[in-house]
Amino acid sequence: MTDRSVVLAGGVEMPLVGLGTWQLSGRAAYEAVRSALEAGYRHIDTATMYRNEAEIGRAVRDSGVPREEVFLTTKLPPDRAGRPRRTLAESLAALGTDHVDLWLVHWPAGGRAEPALWREFLAVQEDGLARAVGVSNYRTAQIDELVAATGQTPVVNQVPWSPADHDPALLAESRDRGVLVEGYSPLKRTDLRSPVLAEIAAAHGVTPAQVVLRWHLEHGIVVIPKSANPERIAANLDLFGFALTPDEVARIDGLAR
Ligand SMILES: NC(=O)c1ccc[n+]([C@@H]2O[C@H](COP(=O)([O-])OP(=O)(O)OC[C@H]3O[C@@H](n4cnc5c(N)ncnc54)[C@H](OP(=O)(O)O)[C@@H]3O)[C@@H](O)[C@H]2O)c1
Repeated sequence: MTDRSVVLAGGVEMPLVGLGTWQLSGRAAYEAVRSALEAGYRHIDTATMYRNEAEIGRAVRDSGVPREEVFLTTKLPPDRAGRPRRTLAESLAALGTDHVDLWLVHWPAGGRAEPALWREFLAVQEDGLARAVGVSNYRTAQIDELVAATGQTPVVNQVPWSPADHDPALLAESRDRGVLVEGYSPLKRTDLRSPVLAEIAAAHGVTPAQVVLRWHLEHGIVVIPKSANPERIAANLDLFGFALTPDEVARIDGLAR
């Protein structure tokens, strides 16, 4: 892992911190992405389901940041599993780009791994429409099913991750398979008033939210906090001027439910 990015299996470089955009729509989505790019983010997470791809595409273009410097993720909703190529074509048109950096199966359709869909994802990657492909909300056994069917491992599994969700077994299983864990809802699922977080935050002169996001990075987990507020957007990326000690990481791990 370099300071601010990780290289995925297959060689694509992914920034460790991205802007989450669920529940950001219209002008708010546009403004949040502009603020994020101005603050130095180079990674934006969206999904067909979020209905904000057009605003995100416009914000990237208007920002003046070259497209190739921004890592764009979008996701296929399971109800589109029957027409993945058309859905991706719609995403690309809305985003105003000829490829995404990461395309994810948003969640297992009907709880099934869907190797046939995964085969389509691999073909799309082969065609250059997605630089990397992966999954979201998959269990390890479901990932193993995809690998057994195709010989190809999803390079990312995007799952809920916060101190309350900390699951060392899932991290180890993912690492063993070359699957990078990307954590969503890092803040929403956290009690930011926890005395443990407050004490560690005070020791470093940062906020409890920054401690939580830095804790993700200490575990090698990519993290995608959402904010609509320019100050919080900037603060959520300001994680590289401090580091947690092993003891602090262990105390935060101990907040798992
Ligand atoms: N793959 C999936 O199934 C899946 C599911 C859920 C989410 N996601 C992705 O993950 C992203 C992040 O997850 P999320 O949106 O659920 O939740 P989140 O990022 O954990 O939390 C967002 C909430 O935290 C607040 N917040 C942001 N920064 C803060 C800070 N520094 N201090 C205090 N509060 C702060 C935000 O309010 P303000 O906006 O007012 O700052 C918002 O209410 C999503 O946006 C989406 O891109 C993926």
